[in-house]
Amino acid sequence: MDALQLDTVRISADKTYLEILDQTLLPNTVKVIQVRRIEDIREAIKSLRVRGAPAIGVCAGYAIALTASQIDTDDPIQFREEFLKHKAYLASSRPTAVNLFWALDRMENTMRAHLNKPVSKIKEILFAEAQAIRDEDVSISRRIGEIGFGLLRHGDGILTHCNAGTLATAKYGTATAPIYVARERGWTDLQVYCDETRPLLQGARLTAFELHGAGIDTTLICDNMASITMRRGLINIIFVGCDRVARNGDTANKIGTSGVAILAKHYGIPFYVCAPGSTIDMSLETGDQIPIEERAPEEVTEMWYAQRMAPEGIQVCNPAFDVTEHSLITGIITEKGLCKAPFDQAFEKLGFGR
Ligand code: MRU
Repeated sequence: MDALQLDTVRISADKTYLEILDQTLLPNTVKVIQVRRIEDIREAIKSLRVRGAPAIGVCAGYAIALTASQIDTDDPIQFREEFLKHKAYLASSRPTAVNLFWALDRMENTMRAHLNKPVSKIKEILFAEAQAIRDEDVSISRRIGEIGFGLLRHGDGILTHCNAGTLATAKYGTATAPIYVARERGWTDLQVYCDETRPLLQGARLTAFELHGAGIDTTLICDNMASITMRRGLINIIFVGCDRVARNGDTANKIGTSGVAILAKHYGIPFYVCAPGSTIDMSLETGDQIPIEERAPEEVTEMWYAQRMAPEGIQVCNPAFDVTEHSLITGIITEKGLCKAPFDQAFEKLGFGR
């Protein structure tokens, strides 16, 4: 199956529900669920049915447009108050990916800019804005792919972590976009290695699914095999995604990413972060200020195992993300260009945060 043909999230034709590709069921079952109620949309984000920073942003845009359309009032002020309650509720789903808050803020700004119009008109405008966020995400990922493709050489071995693929965006992915561009240009000699990405296995279940399905030469490794794979000379370049990039370039991404970056430095392998502008948070000076999501212990002790594999009562630490220090990052690929250190200056020059 070509995952590029799958929509991670979309609004139904009659604009009364969201269609979400349930990623918790992949790779064995490709199923689209229909969600209408704000509680169910929040649950879909929280339980990673829809996940990956850009896709969460796209989903949030559609979600607030949909739930705003369900507000039963003609009074713009009452509409605004209800909208803000929905926004706060959706914003409480996951803390790390800044795209969630970025999309909700953008939708709020749109709502406020049109408050002088009838509520029915504001509702239409909100749907159009959500669609614009989705369409922009496709072109942004495409642009990141073109820039990343320029860094590749024939025969390269590419390592990626988690899933920053088409399933994590509206299309193409960020870290996978250079690989899809290379495929389009007829390159058949790239070899991709994907970390399985414990504990939720986004690499094994999602990245392996989409790249293998696209006919790309893909090898799955456990997270603790990255070092030997690099030592064997199989990795020439690393592309990862991100959930939030601080002003100084410190980058939060899926747990384990910082370890990959440390290994890459040891073996002298270039380490690139692929970052849409919506993931750059210029309000944070460093990565120390990025909130890190802590998830349920059962994801470590039980999930994916036929029976519980750790003793009852054991303490578990399950941070979902870690922060890679900017000094370990060779470059940050944005849709506006490739940024090199000092990253704060590079971001400002490209107009991020304005
Ligand atoms: O917990 P997840 O699956 O939402 O985490 C996803 C990642 O860490 C991705 O690498 C990141 O969101 C970038 S997706 C283009």
